[in-house]
Amino acid sequence: MQSTLDFIYAKTNNFTPEIAIILGSGLGCFCNNLEGISIKYSDIPNFPTSTVAGHRGELLFCEIENKKCVIMQGRFHFYEGYNMSESTYPIKIFKKMGVKTLIITNAAGIANKEINIGDIVLIKDHINFMGTNPLIGRNDDSLGERFPDMSDCYCKKLREKALDSANEIGLNLKEGIYLATTGPSYETPAEVRAFSLLGADLIGMSSVPEAIVANYLKMDVLGFSLATNYATGIANSKPEHKEVLEIGKHSAEKLSNLIKKIISKLD
Ligand code: HPA
Repeated sequence: MQSTLDFIYAKTNNFTPEIAIILGSGLGCFCNNLEGISIKYSDIPNFPTSTVAGHRGELLFCEIENKKCVIMQGRFHFYEGYNMSESTYPIKIFKKMGVKTLIITNAAGIANKEINIGDIVLIKDHINFMGTNPLIGRNDDSLGERFPDMSDCYCKKLREKALDSANEIGLNLKEGIYLATTGPSYETPAEVRAFSLLGADLIGMSSVPEAIVANYLKMDVLGFSLATNYATGIANSKPEHKEVLEIGKHSAEKLSNLIKKIISKLD
């Protein structure tokens, strides 16, 4: 970790971000009008590298609404072959740099028909259906507790700020429960039926490990899903990665505006 930190501090002139933002598939355009210092994942010692289409593979250090932010343009998925600890490594680095708030975004399939394609959904809770947990292994007590509480994983206070912000900019922000599978195969129709019976509104292949680690590190977490497609069997459709990226482009601007509004309200 120290060599990762030393490298980043040297490149950014000791930048100390308070907020970290993880951009999901197709949401890279969030950074279009932002200026700052970019560092490629592949240049950072000990950092994993992103292999999925639609992910840029860079960290951007910049200011948004006068707050210092670090933006991950592309994340590390379990299905790429990283283990849980590798895929959540950046969150631990952000914590060491002083980040207090983590804003997670992702593209997700719709399991609840009350959500429409293109909707932005505030994640109010999650179901970890990945069959593993990023905190498995010897615990480092200096980072967090062995058995962390998960009752407010998606910080209620921040969710209220998100709903207020959405209201102010006239955005209809729905709320939902995100269920994560490992992927990379999409779900079968039977799985989607089962997941919606379990209470899932959205299905995806990311975010849950990041939220668990950030909650463990006592960061405030906020999560948004962009509903890019109906999950398999809902509305007789089949999910496709191309569609996921296309819808992302269209709704990224709405989500960018919302995130900026929320950041302006953070203390
Ligand atoms: N299922 C799982 N993950 C996804 C989907 C989906 O339908 N769409 C985008 N990510």
